[in-house]
Amino acid sequence: MYKATLILGDGIGPEVIKAATSVIEAAGVDIGWDEKMVGQAALTKYNNSLPDDAINSIEINRIALKGPTTTEIGKGFRSANISLRQRLNLYANVRPIKSIEGTKGKYDNIDMVIFRENTEDLYMGIEHMVGKDAAESIKIITREASERIASMAFSYAVKEKRKKVTCAHKANIMKLTDGLFLSSVRSVASKFPDIEYEEVIADSLFMKMVMKPENYDVLVLPNLYGDLLSEMSAGLVGGLGIVPGVNIGVEAAVFEPTHGTALDIAGQGIANPTAAILCGVMLLRHIGEKDAADRIYNSVRNVIRNGKYVTRDLGGCSNTLEMTKAIIDSL
Ligand code: NAI
Repeated sequence: MYKATLILGDGIGPEVIKAATSVIEAAGVDIGWDEKMVGQAALTKYNNSLPDDAINSIEINRIALKGPTTTEIGKGFRSANISLRQRLNLYANVRPIKSIEGTKGKYDNIDMVIFRENTEDLYMGIEHMVGKDAAESIKIITREASERIASMAFSYAVKEKRKKVTCAHKANIMKLTDGLFLSSVRSVASKFPDIEYEEVIADSLFMKMVMKPENYDVLVLPNLYGDLLSEMSAGLVGGLGIVPGVNIGVEAAVFEPTHGTALDIAGQGIANPTAAILCGVMLLRHIGEKDAADRIYNSVRNVIRNGKYVTRDLGGCSNTLEMTKAIIDSL
């Protein structure tokens, strides 16, 4: 039996994460889940949005499946997500973006993987007021963090027989910070002569991505641009409800959907479980359960392609449980 930490999260988190664990169980993989609280649920119960208990569990198990957690906008406690990534040094956020037939995505030929640096840039949250009417945020980029995300992206490209790595930056404007990111990625790229390497200014990438997303394969970006690109790319393949992801470092991997807590639909049982279930697929691949992962992935594709038992965001009228059951039945 495998051991993994389970964080249900806030909002629709418990609904979609329970769907994922039930599909994994139905696929015959025995995982002992160590359930812990993070986010609003933990704040309410323990007055701490990121209890040590949850961190310790992930450190021991080295893998976790996590639902989205609430972060208040412009006030309140520091994002538990960001703290979690920093405390466990989950330095890469990896998001596979792949077209699935039957979604409302406008493209049927996207197959790319985004590697977003996860620990620094403006997301370090080093902000302060400068007097009453001005605020300052400090952007940190280091060679070490930039090289390790680049190394992960290039090593992945080799392992998965991908052809090209694209690095996005704004070194034309932020010559020191993004300039350092760019030169770090460039130096890693020089060690992988068999992988095509290209550089693109981030704003231009967004335009090109909307027009010809099939041109992209593996992408590597600093934290902020990576966050924006991941979210936009989810839209290209049919929305937040279907895109999985992982925050990964040397010691641990936390699998979580791209979407947030979706408070507008939380508690109604209508959230799309696909992103969470595909996080389960990524987790299974990570622990070597390739056969179960492939079977679940194919079931998800079948159910979405068939279109009969899909949630509202995919144009259907099934609820979370009905869609999950259809995926299990199709296994
Ligand atoms: P959101 O992803 O929660 O919702 C955006 C829109 O997408 C909503 O209309 C929602 O109903 C829809 N949506 C999202 N997931 C869906 C699903 N599985 N099925 C069907 N529809 C779905 O983004 P929002 O509103 O910006 O963020 C809400 C909260 O979530 C915030 O507190 C934010 O900080 C948090 N958040 C947490 C993340 C995490 O823990 N990894 C990631 C992103 C946001």
